Amino acid sequence: MARKILAAGNWKMNKTPSQTKALIAEMREACKSETVDVLLCVPAICIPAAVEAAAGSNIQIGAENMYFEESGAYTGEISPEMIVDAGATYVIMGHSERRDYFGESNEDVNKKVLKALEHNLVPVMCCGESLTQREQGITMDWIRQQVKIGMIGVSAEDAVKVVIAYEPIWAIGTGKTATAEQAEEVCKGIRDLIRELYGDAVAEEIRILYGGSVNPGNAAELFAKEDIDGGLVGGASLKTSFGEIVNYNK
Ligand code: PGA
Repeated sequence: MARKILAAGNWKMNKTPSQTKALIAEMREACKSETVDVLLCVPAICIPAAVEAAAGSNIQIGAENMYFEESGAYTGEISPEMIVDAGATYVIMGHSERRDYFGESNEDVNKKVLKALEHNLVPVMCCGESLTQREQGITMDWIRQQVKIGMIGVSAEDAVKVVIAYEPIWAIGTGKTATAEQAEEVCKGIRDLIRELYGDAVAEEIRILYGGSVNPGNAAELFAKEDIDGGLVGGASLKTSFGEIVNYNK
């Protein structure tokens, strides 16, 4: 069975709850698709507005972060139960901005992956190398380490539910997209690693996204690659034209 393409937006720290409502109301029509899954990950405070605005459409809502404990004295954090109760179904973890600015480690990401799965939230686990690492020729070693640690303790049954997003840091928000060949090479490398860890069936089923300056102009070429199953889209998911990424094949 062919993997279904996932067009996932990552709004980052943009849009208020009222702006969220208005934008999703506009996006509903543009993002209609029977062949592509559509996801918008929004700031935690915007999740209820997003869920309400997306109700009855094909747009699913996700969170951008989550803590790995159930509840307690963790001022400012958001628990899996809160995310589920608010109606979100996905959660991003290990985004390079969270790793860089907020010290999220591979071990944290692993705890988050396990906790999200426990709550039936789909983890969107990000990985990616810096420009220096690419120039040093250690891209795949770095990515393999991030993914391997992220997946520690995840069963084969659960592993297929995880979405892995490959986002080269040098391509995020820079307008510098990796070429489709560069993106495919790493996404294939990730699938090969999943095959080593979990076997063929899981490797064939798990979805691997590319992220980093995806836009309506380059989505078709990227998504056509064998091992790229969609995109994690930042800037271009804040506009109604995100629908052109969703409908990349039309
Ligand atoms: P970008 O961000 O599409 O704006 O480059 C992608 C991401 O950080 O997920």
